Amino acid sequence: MAQFDVVIIGAGAAGLMCAAQAGYRGRKVLVVDHAKQAGKKILISGGGRCNFTNLFASPANYLCRNPHFVKSALARFTQHDFIELVDRHGIAYHEKTLGQLFCDDSAKDIVQLLLTECDWAGAKVQLKSQVSQIEKTAAGFSLKVNGEAVTCQSLVVACGGLSMPKLCATPLGYQIAEQFGLAILPTRAGLVPFTLDKPDLDKFAELAGVSLPVSAHSEDGTVFKEALLFTHRGLSGPAILQISSFWQPGQDVTLNLLPGLDISDALGKMAAKHPNQALKTALARLLPKRLVEILGEHGAIDGEMPLKALDAGRMKKLATALGEFRVHPNGTEGYRTAEVTLGGLDTDELSSKTMESKQVPGLYFIGEVMDVTGWLGGYNFQWAWSSGWAAGQAV
Ligand code: FDA
Repeated sequence: MAQFDVVIIGAGAAGLMCAAQAGYRGRKVLVVDHAKQAGKKILISGGGRCNFTNLFASPANYLCRNPHFVKSALARFTQHDFIELVDRHGIAYHEKTLGQLFCDDSAKDIVQLLLTECDWAGAKVQLKSQVSQIEKTAAGFSLKVNGEAVTCQSLVVACGGLSMPKLCATPLGYQIAEQFGLAILPTRAGLVPFTLDKPDLDKFAELAGVSLPVSAHSEDGTVFKEALLFTHRGLSGPAILQISSFWQPGQDVTLNLLPGLDISDALGKMAAKHPNQALKTALARLLPKRLVEILGEHGAIDGEMPLKALDAGRMKKLATALGEFRVHPNGTEGYRTAEVTLGGLDTDELSSKTMESKQVPGLYFIGEVMDVTGWLGGYNFQWAWSSGWAAGQAV
């Protein structure tokens, strides 16, 4: 029977961070993962360059039923601590936009950083390993790894959420929580594209591939000003992925197609210069031409109207049509393409300082498996680093 101080299930972002920290504390650590490769999501993240943190990460960037829960871990291991680690490993990076830090070269650098840290810390990473028969014992836990008995004092559940099953996501984390009687909040796909009903799809079909800056507003008042992308199946792009985490089935999403622009003022100025110009010609200077045509074809605007005909009433109507453009998603692309899973293990079950279960001493949950979901932009990895680090000090 193999004996370890700490067994971590999941060689992803949170699990590897936790393993290195525990190893440096002198703990005998085993990380097990059923995948053939460690950190599969890291490898494909950020278009292969891994948006590994965000300069502005703060508790406000996370969705969690208890918004205070994330504060301790984020304060104890910050984005600057992770950046320091990246610097120490000589990995070059850059800020792309909005504080989002990406590797210059490849996401492989981040996986290598974590594996090197585990190696230096003496933590063993064992891939292609199936976990079964987890049981609580007087001294900790016993489990089977590929049929072999393993015991440990601390068991860390770091097996992530349900998004992207093709990258080895499974519900094991929730099953373990259930086995020990811990509360799980309903899960759903987050940071995910919207799908549309056929009439809307037909309407926007020709726009597939077209992108434009918008502000996207959910019914709970959340707003993201980023790019929207029309796709063959619906709507995507950062603005849509962000707002998807705040959207509930059945709700509308409101788009300002000209964010940051006073539409009446801009068109008023154009009308003063070119009073006979058709509205569609003027708008095509502000929006993709095909979008303007489609808005005209579907009666959202009167594209043939000369600018001089835009009286106060019509201007107001136009400002509403463009500034409060409503879309009604019929759903999302689901876990197949979602970047994250909303919900999960209720954080009320855990110590916010150590991530240890309040009910089951020695059992820890870190990363995405719990009800903590970051915005798009490096925030989810930061949560994996911070929660993994916090547990790593305690296991
Ligand atoms: P993670 O999913 O990383 O690791 C879980 C591990 O557990 C995996 O290695 C898995 O194989 C293993 N596992 C699962 N079930 C198991 C079982 N039954 N037995 C054994 N092992 C099991 N975030 C961000 O901040 N910046 C970004 O650029 C991106 N980009 C991005 C792109 C895409 C396409 C996706 C899907 C996601 C992102 N994310 C992201 C989100 C980010 O990848 C995610 O939040 C973290 O990887 C979560 O880290 P965890 O360690 O909790 O889970």
